[in-house]
Amino acid sequence: MPWGHEEGVRLKVLVVGGGGREHSLAIALVASPTVAEVHLCPGNAGTSIIATNHDCSADDVDAVVILAEQLSVDLVVVGPEAPLVNGLADILRQRGIACFGPDADNAMLEGSKLRAKQAMSNNGVPTAEYQILRSDSDIDSALDTYSGNPWVVKRDVLAGGKGVVVTSDRQVAREAIIAAIDSDGEVLLEEFLSGEEASVLVVMDESGYVCLPASQDHKRLGDGDSGPNTGGMGAYAPAPVFTDEVRRKTIDRIVKPMHEDLRNSETPYRGVLYVGLMINSESDPFVVEFNVRFGDPECQITLPLVETDLAQHLLAAAQGRLVEEEVRFLEAHCLTVVLAAEGYPGTVVKGRRITGTGSRSQDGEHRSVSWVNHAGTGIVEGELVSTGGRVLSATGMGPSLSEACEAAYRLINGIELEGSQHRSDIGYRAL
Ligand code: AMP
Ligand code: GLY
Repeated sequence: MPWGHEEGVRLKVLVVGGGGREHSLAIALVASPTVAEVHLCPGNAGTSIIATNHDCSADDVDAVVILAEQLSVDLVVVGPEAPLVNGLADILRQRGIACFGPDADNAMLEGSKLRAKQAMSNNGVPTAEYQILRSDSDIDSALDTYSGNPWVVKRDVLAGGKGVVVTSDRQVAREAIIAAIDSDGEVLLEEFLSGEEASVLVVMDESGYVCLPASQDHKRLGDGDSGPNTGGMGAYAPAPVFTDEVRRKTIDRIVKPMHEDLRNSETPYRGVLYVGLMINSESDPFVVEFNVRFGDPECQITLPLVETDLAQHLLAAAQGRLVEEEVRFLEAHCLTVVLAAEGYPGTVVKGRRITGTGSRSQDGEHRSVSWVNHAGTGIVEGELVSTGGRVLSATGMGPSLSEACEAAYRLINGIELEGSQHRSDIGYRAL
């Protein structure tokens, strides 16, 4: 029997990161009957109550490795992409520590949009056409090629979800292209895809893959999908746009070929591949982006739908034996509404007091009617305060999407943070 899998052996897990995604991972892991201890670096106010936070930045790869060794953890679960791109998983595996999250080379699927495009092309995966522009490119002729629709300008760097400009204003597109070439040397100009978006989280290793229930994120700041792109203002799952037909096509055209490629890569991919889809009016899925981690806030509404033991599934994937796991999902719906600080997604005001969260986030209770996922929160002199752009999200769960939605809004409407913003229409496409 694989190590860490025997009867009675309970796991010590380290979660890397401190956002809403990591709080939701911590909640699910704390609830696991096979987990003894959950540690986070750095965590947030929510995780400090249900698990143990460590004063160590998720971006400091060496410090995370030292912490994992000091704690003698059985499993490291990496939340954000940056430490993966910087080789955290590679080092942990060299030291014999199981890590859920891919090696640095595979993490470039998110670290470079161009690399992702090349992987899609090699595997025949449907995606938007694109051109690469550099300082000697004819920008106007490239803009002409894709005129008639909004222009999509993508920086080829990790930009925390803020490296993409979608605009119908030629001058704005032109300026975004020039700014990106100035700072990065090159930029992608992409064909605009119309349709409805969905996110599919695919847990995989060399032995197999498991698609989690599809979700839909709301990336624009304002109601009705207006305003600038953000890291995500709310999400729900399952997303009805991901019909059986779309699911079949997504698996055949995208998941299977990508899995076949990634399981045979020099270091097999062990972690979750986030497949961001645009689904057109013919129900054909196209890949908008790959991420090499759980989505935030998609994670917060997907993990509660996993009925079976998440800790064992993540450990199995980290050890290359996911195929042995039976993963089941609940027949339920989950919806989360993000509360962002004043100024988000630009320069944000931090350090303001938050009230009204009650104890919902603090008891670690898994799958109640509603709970708070902390993100940019901290405790200063015993008070809960904001420390980031996306401060928290209110999550509701229920037998229908409308019940989950009502529960989430009931909770968020009781939370106060001066200057805060949240969307009032999360889930509108499905409700
Ligand atoms: P990305 O970081 O690549 O996911 O892009 C952020 C957001 O921009 C996506 O979630 C979409 O809403 C939008 N987007 C990106 N690429 C395209 C495209 N080719 N066509 C239409 N919208 C896009
Ligand atoms: N919610 C989008 C992302 O995590 O990239």
